[in-house]
Amino acid sequence: MNKFFLIALLSTQLLFLSFSGKANKTTLSVDKPVIQSKEPLLGYQRKQQLIHMVKQDCGSCHGMTLKGGLGPALLPENVKDKPILFLQNTILYGRPGTAMPPWKTILTEQETLWIAKQLQQGINKGINNEQ
Ligand code: HEC
Repeated sequence: MNKFFLIALLSTQLLFLSFSGKANKTTLSVDKPVIQSKEPLLGYQRKQQLIHMVKQDCGSCHGMTLKGGLGPALLPENVKDKPILFLQNTILYGRPGTAMPPWKTILTEQETLWIAKQLQQGINKGINNEQ
């Protein structure tokens, strides 16, 4: 085997390794947005179910009108200045060591993001008024 051929072969392998390394890094990145754009948009019916769930299930701790109870109030004035990802992650993963349970087995990332936005704008405003 000719020396130049060997060098050329080695460098293509190195090139390949550096590319595959880069690809792995991107997949594992934690900086990319949580939301997956491939998920279908939430339909009207699902949104209604989610609002109902927030009032009933979340309401059992946060109060039916979200004015607070065992859990803190979740009205716009309480949550509008909190980062959306902070609220979304609280809903998805809960708050270990507190009564706030994780909802990730019941709700998708997209649904928790939507709920967080609804809390910021006020769920009683109705889902027709969302931006
Ligand atoms: C079993 C009671 C319980 C239920 C049910 C519950 N929560 Fe909570 N939640 C809490 C408690 C307690 C806290 C405060 C945790 C702490 O002390 O950090 C909290 C905190 C939160 C926060 C953070 C508020 C802030 O200002 O930082 C959000 C957002 C939230 N809950 C949303 C929800 C949503 C949405 C649901 C329903 C899908 C829900 N919670 C259901 C008890 C509950």
